[in-house]
Amino acid sequence: MEQIVGHRSAQAQASPSALIDRFGRKVSYLRISVTDRCDLRCIYCMSENMQFVPRSQLLTLEEIIRIAKSFVDLGVNKIRITGGEPLTRRNIMKVFEGLGQLAGLDDLSLTTNASQLSKYAIPLHEAGVRRINISLDTIQPERFRKITRVGKLHKTLAGIDAALQAGFQKVKINSVVLKNINHDEVTELVAFVRTRGMDITFIEEMPLGIINDHNRAQSYYSSDEILSDLRRQYELIATTEKTGGPARYYKMPDSESRVGFISPHSHNFCASCNRVRLTAEGLLLLCLGQEHSKDLKRVVRAHPTNDESLRKAIIQSMLIKPKGHNFDLNTQEVILRHMNATGG
Ligand code: GTP
Ligand code: 5AD
Ligand code: SF4
Repeated sequence: MEQIVGHRSAQAQASPSALIDRFGRKVSYLRISVTDRCDLRCIYCMSENMQFVPRSQLLTLEEIIRIAKSFVDLGVNKIRITGGEPLTRRNIMKVFEGLGQLAGLDDLSLTTNASQLSKYAIPLHEAGVRRINISLDTIQPERFRKITRVGKLHKTLAGIDAALQAGFQKVKINSVVLKNINHDEVTELVAFVRTRGMDITFIEEMPLGIINDHNRAQSYYSSDEILSDLRRQYELIATTEKTGGPARYYKMPDSESRVGFISPHSHNFCASCNRVRLTAEGLLLLCLGQEHSKDLKRVVRAHPTNDESLRKAIIQSMLIKPKGHNFDLNTQEVILRHMNATGG
């Protein structure tokens, strides 16, 4: 289905730059976590025994679409669906189909672990998703099981193949790199994406949520170390290209693939932050690394037929968007929320 090209509603045209925070940053990108549940248990993301949000407390699929529409009315033109694992949410295609119809939304994308992409790749493309980011930290089956605690590599690889065949504009791999766990595999991961025409970004782990059997300070491996490892094998040329996210991209002279680095510790990117996040239970989080939030579920439920209050609440929330995160791998004072609550 083609995205409908059209104009935003009258309210949006009346306030085209409503979403500007106290530091002059324009918010144009909404990341929506549709579930905190996942079929994997990656060691840096979740603890082994997680308590998930009871299903009764989740936003309904209709509420998610309604909130997304209000953001688009206020000038947001980019939405990414994340989790947990978004494709584990029942009837999730309704959300993609609803958002694929929104006039003014230029970029609808998905972050997934690919375990169910064999089934969903074609319907997602038909609904209007153009870019998919897939989490893959290793291409060694035994290591994959260790990092995800329960996963099977062949399912993820089949999902990646399905995405490539479905014709998405971009399929990007995300790899969280951990010292002595998968840092020795970065060159192989680049070789893997090069043969498939995909991009890859290497991510520095962020201290979100307490995980008892994993020491984040010990497993820190900086983007600069990865870059110098890769340069033994590949020529990497810095670019100024941006996808709207925080990655810094490099290209290679003999390949279409780009290599990106998301480096919250070594190269802070908060000054150019353009995004906010909606959790599965309807909290609007103004920063991934802080607790500032606005309860949008309360607002949509208090005003079931009129979006005026919802738009007002979203505009007001800009006043509490903080300047940036204070991630520190060496302190016990971590944000209590695990990454599965926000999908990054
Ligand atoms: P595009 O640029 O839209 O392709 O997406 P992306 O790379 O930002 O999205 P993705 O969901 O693939 O996220 C990759 C990683 O970037 C995740 O680990 C996120 O946590 C991290 N990330 C994305 N946005 C932010 C941010 O605002 N702050 C921080 N600290 N990390 C972020
Ligand atoms: N730090 C950095 N990235 C993380 N992800 C999950 N938990 C963390 C963390 N603590 C990554 C996943 C996925 C993306 C959405 O977030 O691997 O690629
Ligand atoms: Fe699931 Fe993604 Fe977290 Fe892994 S990182 S447990 S795939 S939500």
